[in-house]
Amino acid sequence: MKLPRQFFQPLAIGAPAPMRELPVRLERMIHFVPPHMEKMRAKVPELARQVDVVLGNLEDAIPVEAKEAARQGFIEMGKSVDFGPTGLWTRINALNSPWALDDITEIVGTIGNKLDVIMLPKVDGPWDIHYLDQLLAQLEARHKIAKPILIHAILETAQGVNNVEAIASASPRMHGMSLGPADLAASRAMKTTRVGGGHPEYKVLADAAGDAPRAAYQQDLWHYTVGRMVDACAAAGIKPFYGPFGDFSDLAACETQFRNAFLMGCLGAWSLHPTQIGIAKTVFSPDPGEVAFAKKIVAAMPDGAGAVMIDGKMQDDATWKQAKVLIDLAKLVAAKDPEMAVKYGL
Ligand code: GLV
Ligand code: MG
Repeated sequence: MKLPRQFFQPLAIGAPAPMRELPVRLERMIHFVPPHMEKMRAKVPELARQVDVVLGNLEDAIPVEAKEAARQGFIEMGKSVDFGPTGLWTRINALNSPWALDDITEIVGTIGNKLDVIMLPKVDGPWDIHYLDQLLAQLEARHKIAKPILIHAILETAQGVNNVEAIASASPRMHGMSLGPADLAASRAMKTTRVGGGHPEYKVLADAAGDAPRAAYQQDLWHYTVGRMVDACAAAGIKPFYGPFGDFSDLAACETQFRNAFLMGCLGAWSLHPTQIGIAKTVFSPDPGEVAFAKKIVAAMPDGAGAVMIDGKMQDDATWKQAKVLIDLAKLVAAKDPEMAVKYGL
């Protein structure tokens, strides 16, 4: 076991000290860009003003023959665009692929000082995090990177779900985790070809009552995994995210999946299509009505102790803490979005 005093030591001489607290940033949507496509790269300066995180995708969905071009395109994008307060992330190829090592060494060597987070796919256990952690420390030292590059794991293998707590607490470099429903479905041999969302056959049937037709209620296939991921992340002080929603034609289902994740504790989701940016912005910014009620709770219990009744509902120390979660998030959103600041009265 690594001793407590060693946990925050840099893993290479000359590497920056690991962060003790994660940077406070709004990350409602992680917007995926295929960086080998010049047409898409040209849109990035404008995109960076609309989204919270721009991610250059190098892994799945990038054709094998375009892997090098995607890496070079991402480096060029990182060099030429001013991202301001918007996060710059990349999803590298899996550690067992022929591209991962060059993805890491070339990107850190060129734009390591601009890169915020590396998303690591197909994480099976803490050993994957330890490998990347050590390698990043060596590269940070070599290239004089000023702040540590964080790691975001994709939870998308059955083994990863088995080890979710160990992954979440593997290193102070851990930023958070995203559910990857497509690879996870394949890894578990789930019988669905969808990328996230529900399935019409995954349901509960109401009891029979004579000859009346029986209602069927579709259930959330991802509830169990999101719950495990949220608990593992919250306990480790890192951030949970819902990942991709593949049916771009079904905006309502996307919104519902994102909202379930938000209500359970996730802070954002991936946007793979421009229409999903607005959905994520709406869903992962707290509802102004809820924020107004949270402000009432905090005003009625300034020191957060005791119990009061507001609009017939009991409030105590625990609901005060729930109210604080909403108000703190609303403040983050308000700082970025003047329109929402007005709606929140902040
Ligand atoms: C994402 O990478 C997924 O597999 O769903
Ligand atoms: Mg995947």
